[in-house]
Amino acid sequence: MRLLVLGGTEFVGRAVTEEAVARGWDVTVFNRGRHAVPDGVVALRGDRTRADGLAALELGVWDVVVDTWSGAPWAVRESAERLSARAGRYVYISSRSVYEAPAPRGLAEDGPVVGGSPDARDAEYAEAKRGGELAALAAFGERALLARAGLILGPYENIGRLPWWLSRIARGGTVLAPGPEDLPLQYIDARDLARWVLDAEGLGGPFNVVSPPGHATMGRLLEACVDVTGVDAELRWTAPETLLAAGIEPWTELPIWLPPGELYDTLHQGDASKAQAHGLRCRPVEETVADTWAWLRSLDGQVPHRADREVVGLAPDREAAVLSG
Ligand SMILES: NC(=O)c1ccc[n+]([C@@H]2O[C@H](COP(=O)([O-])OP(=O)(O)OC[C@H]3O[C@@H](n4cnc5c(N)ncnc54)[C@H](OP(=O)(O)O)[C@@H]3O)[C@@H](O)[C@H]2O)c1
Repeated sequence: MRLLVLGGTEFVGRAVTEEAVARGWDVTVFNRGRHAVPDGVVALRGDRTRADGLAALELGVWDVVVDTWSGAPWAVRESAERLSARAGRYVYISSRSVYEAPAPRGLAEDGPVVGGSPDARDAEYAEAKRGGELAALAAFGERALLARAGLILGPYENIGRLPWWLSRIARGGTVLAPGPEDLPLQYIDARDLARWVLDAEGLGGPFNVVSPPGHATMGRLLEACVDVTGVDAELRWTAPETLLAAGIEPWTELPIWLPPGELYDTLHQGDASKAQAHGLRCRPVEETVADTWAWLRSLDGQVPHRADREVVGLAPDREAAVLSG
């Protein structure tokens, strides 16, 4: 199989690239060359935001293209149009953010989506992802697969959510743990997402690519962090009302966590049964946590962070204030 990854060297794209190399596929990545390219991969260079940026893609034939673009949709349109006659299918790594918010509990792929244009040069995240979907569909039709990922965790994460929890727990002591402990979580390990999109031959259209709700709980996630870091940390489970009354920002100050409510239903209670029925398998949270910790330890403190995403995590003094209150 000949795979072209548009991107391919940071987090999700990197997982796709590594999975394909492990399968013995011929893998080409296309990017600006700012990140190390995994061994065994052909690297083409170009900047998708420039008018002449796709020149390196003028030649070449691929069975499948995976596009991880999350910026303005016109860049997806340009590459999808250019590749439609020379590539078998086009996988666009989309997001469950394309659904109109708040998305009710149990929303499947036929839920209402935000507006978007494949031509947009400036768009907010949800509209940009929808515009990217429309661009892929316009050029590839039924050969376009829209992988609507939920929260993504795992090694190489450059948003900082699981890395923050691991780093915080590795400092030890009493840890502010957002309850309830049995709060069901929904996410996808980037490597399970990668496997699924590479296995998804013959599939087209939208799929929610995320674990079933409750694949893990807040308790299992944080206990796994305590186990792998091996430190003496006490998880102090704290009620959502207490955290909200203290002004703690869910999701950003305490990553991954949302208090029960509308936003929680949107992000942790989606319907992923279609992808499950088409072969999506999700590894246990303990494995995701252990592998992410092993990766973090290999970095010498240089944890990557996407410049266009906010920094997440709770400042130590704010944590201490809530714990002592
Ligand atoms: N994180 C989550 O929880 C979450 C949830 C749902 C969906 N998603 C989606 O998951 C995807 C994450 O993908 P990723 O960023 O991890 O993919 P990636 O393919 O691993 O990394 C981004 C790639 O884009 C390249 N790139 C950046 N700017 C470029 C430009 N101007 N021209 C050409 N190449 C460029 C980067 O290389 P260079 O810098 O060297 O160019 C890099 O290879 C996104 O589509 C996001 O919307 C994420």
